[in-house]
Amino acid sequence: MQPVKKVVIPAAGLGTRFLPVTKSQPKEMLPVVDKPAIQYVVEEAVRAGLTDVLIVTGRGKHAIEDHFDRNFELEVQLERAGKRALLDAVLNPSEMAAIHYIRQKEPKGLGHAVLTARDHVGDEPFAVMLGDDIMVDDAEVLRSMLDVHARYGRSVVALQEVPRGDISAYGCVEPEPVDDLLVQVRSIVEKPDPTEAPSNLAVIGRYVFTPEIFDALARITPGAGGELQLTDAIALLIESQTVYGWTFEHGRYDIGKKVDFLRANIELALDRDDLGPELEAFLVDLVRRRKLL
Ligand code: UTP
Repeated sequence: MQPVKKVVIPAAGLGTRFLPVTKSQPKEMLPVVDKPAIQYVVEEAVRAGLTDVLIVTGRGKHAIEDHFDRNFELEVQLERAGKRALLDAVLNPSEMAAIHYIRQKEPKGLGHAVLTARDHVGDEPFAVMLGDDIMVDDAEVLRSMLDVHARYGRSVVALQEVPRGDISAYGCVEPEPVDDLLVQVRSIVEKPDPTEAPSNLAVIGRYVFTPEIFDALARITPGAGGELQLTDAIALLIESQTVYGWTFEHGRYDIGKKVDFLRANIELALDRDDLGPELEAFLVDLVRRRKLL
């Protein structure tokens, strides 16, 4: 089985759920504690053994390229001031992996964003990680998905149970159990009405694909919301290849959603030695003052 080395990170969306800040700032660059969301995504990819990163960008997304580039002026200043830890933090993003960029000229949907990666990926299996989805799990889910791909040689999507009323915000699958956390995806539909959804298992921003997904992406027409939907291409892929789903429960934050952005900042800050104790004391005091318990 050809090992997966490449990952495509779509980051060209408009981020309308997070306006007004996303008017002039990519949502993938929103800080979670002190790092932009997309850096966590790249770190997770690297931790799972992926070495070739392609970020799909678009209009107004220059900050992403700057972040993963060198900044000599700043490096020299920090070096002179003897600020080694900060220098490392500044250098780290540019040294993590081979990072490439491609532009999606129009945000026509996630399916279209992935299709722009076709020439770069070629005839290989590859991963897709959404640039605004953070997993606080030490790359466990992605690693497990890569293992499933290595075992079966087929595509795998990440799945999480959501409240039935929320399913209309996601791609949703009809699952058939294989073993403990693994299911076979019988069918898949984008943003179903909760009354018609085949389950409450939502597709979450991690995927491993066989290269045949590109043929399917080239065939789809605009779907839900008038966008070219990755879900519709997966539905086509299922007609010719088994697609698996890897279920997980915790640790995912959608940074493009305001409440998840706030939750991610709190959880990740609480984990930090330099911030956790002070933040925890603040939260305890806040709960008391607001009489939340
Ligand atoms: P989202 O649906 O969360 O992104 O796509 P969006 O369209 O920016 O969000 P809202 O609804 O307007 O707030 C998931 C990921 O896919 C990328 C986004 O940048 C995000 O990281 N994406 C989406 C693209 O790269 N291109 C697109 O055309 C759409």
